[in-house]
Amino acid sequence: MMNWKEIDTYAKQWIKEAGKRIRDSFDLELTVETKSNANDLVTNMDRATEAFFYEKIGERFPDHRILGEEGVGAEITDLKGIVWIIDPIDGTINFVHQQRNFAISVGIFEEGVGKIGLIYDVVHDELYHCFKGEGAYMNEVKLPSLKQVPVNETILAINASWIHSNKLVPKERLIKLVSDVRGTRSTGSAALELAYVAAGRYDAYVTLRLSPWDYAAGILLVEEVGGEVTDVFGEKIDFLKKSSIFASKPGLHQEMINTYFSKE
Ligand code: IPD
Ligand code: CA
Ligand code: CA
Ligand code: CA
Repeated sequence: MMNWKEIDTYAKQWIKEAGKRIRDSFDLELTVETKSNANDLVTNMDRATEAFFYEKIGERFPDHRILGEEGVGAEITDLKGIVWIIDPIDGTINFVHQQRNFAISVGIFEEGVGKIGLIYDVVHDELYHCFKGEGAYMNEVKLPSLKQVPVNETILAINASWIHSNKLVPKERLIKLVSDVRGTRSTGSAALELAYVAAGRYDAYVTLRLSPWDYAAGILLVEEVGGEVTDVFGEKIDFLKKSSIFASKPGLHQEMINTYFSKE
C-alpha cells in the first residue's frame, strides 16, 4: 500500500525548503538566460530548484517519476504510477524583475488522478495545499467551498496579451468579457492565479495556453473547493498536454463558456 500521508509530509517539507533556498538566493547574483524567445526566461534558480526536487524524490521515492518544466528528469509521455508535475518557479519574469509574485507548483498524480496539490508563494510564505477528498488549505487554514457569483460581480484574472492576439477565441468576445465583469487582474503566475481562485480572491481565471506544470497543482486546488476547471470550450484537461485553461466558481463556468468562449 502506498503511504500517501508520508508522500504528503515530504512534499510539504521539500517545497518549504526549496522556497527558503530561493529566498536565500536573493542576496546572490542571478544568471538569467532566454529560452524560446526574449520573454521566455530561465534562471539558475529555476534549474537548481527543479534539481533539488529531483534529488529528494529520487532518494526517498525512487520509483516515482517527475515531469518538470526545465527537463531535469527523463521525458514523461504517460501518467502511469506516481508522477510529480513540477514547476520550480512559476512566474520567472516576476522572480527576475520583482523578487515576488512567483510560486513553486507541485501536483502529485497516481495513475493520472490528482492526489496532492501544492503551490508555495515563496516570498509571502503562503502554502496552498490540498489532499484529494480532504479539502484545500492555505497555511493550514481550511479554504471555504466556493460560492456562486454573477458575471457582473466577477473579478477575472486574464493577461491582456490574449486580447491582442490568440488563435482560439475571437477578440470581440474577449473585449465583451472584460467589459462585462467587475474587474480584471493579472498576477503573472498561473499557479498563483489558480491558487487565488481556490482561495476566493479571484472568481475566475482564463488563459489560452499553459503547460502541465503551470496548471497541475492549481486545478487540484480549485476542484477541491468546488470550483470548475476545463479548457475554454468546456473539455476535460489532459495533464500531459498544453491547453487553454478556464477555472471558475461553480455556476459561472458553463455560462461564461456559452457566452464568451464557445465556437457555436
Ligand atoms: C508562466 C507563468 C505565466 C503564464 C505563462 C507561463 P513560467 O510560467 O505562469 O503567468 O502566463 O504562460 O509560462 O514560465 O514563469 O514558469
Ligand atoms: Ca518558463
Ligand atoms: Ca510556469
Ligand atoms: Ca517555470
